[in-house]
Amino acid sequence: METRLIRVDLDKSADHFSLVCVGDMHIGSVNCDEDKIARDISRIAKSQTTRAIVIGDIIEGINTSDPRFDFKSLAPQFRNCDITNLSQLQAEAAAELLTPITEHADGFLIGNHEDVVFRKYHYDPMVDMLARLYPGDKYQQHRRNWKYGCVARYKVTKGGMPALDFEVYATHGTGSSSTKEGALKKCKKLAEVVDVDVYMCGHHHKRIHDSETQLRVKWNGNGGRVGHRRKGFVSTGAYMKTYLDGYAGYGERRTYAPVEIGSTVIDFDLDANTFDISNY
Ligand SMILES: [Fe+2]
Repeated sequence: METRLIRVDLDKSADHFSLVCVGDMHIGSVNCDEDKIARDISRIAKSQTTRAIVIGDIIEGINTSDPRFDFKSLAPQFRNCDITNLSQLQAEAAAELLTPITEHADGFLIGNHEDVVFRKYHYDPMVDMLARLYPGDKYQQHRRNWKYGCVARYKVTKGGMPALDFEVYATHGTGSSSTKEGALKKCKKLAEVVDVDVYMCGHHHKRIHDSETQLRVKWNGNGGRVGHRRKGFVSTGAYMKTYLDGYAGYGERRTYAPVEIGSTVIDFDLDANTFDISNY
């Protein structure tokens, strides 16, 4: 488990703060919607009040000796080159796509696709990608590597004055779920692991979110006062198209419902001290 304290100082006039959860890009797969990734990355990069967490399965990472390898599943740019070190090429491509948000991305998590590459091929695509995104800056490379799971505390200020304080638990996710409801249930189970404000996971390629409100009694010398605490749950979504013209990937072969492409954003209203979760 990793822990990070993240300080963000916004302009005095800021009235909101946004956190985008970018999940399951699978860069290198023919099913990866690189255009949509580029559009969302550009949108994040243009906003001074937006930060991002990248939730894993950033690259496809299925090398030529992997039993799952299928030449037809490669994105066109990987078909006419030496693919001996395919995962490295994909980590390089990922770094290029993500470069515009180097200052906006607070954490990058390992997905099961990076994990297989790391364990079977003695090459860590996360470390390589982060070294490309933050060249020569070991501290930033380490700080941004949230590995398999991280509790991050965000302390947001406006012109140096406290404005927002919340905790996130982010992890790629495990297991299988063929429905949105199942993915959300998996996300809600994270509340059994740790007590934070927002839980986020990817892996299931299902974009769905929910929130729950719990009572929180605030005590002082005279007794208790009823207060509330809202918890958000985000199954982040993906950039892996299930159906393509002329090619049947594993999703089509298993007759999965088409994936809803894109990310999820948590918008914090700094004046009302509340948040909303929506599609990005
Ligand atoms: Fe994935």
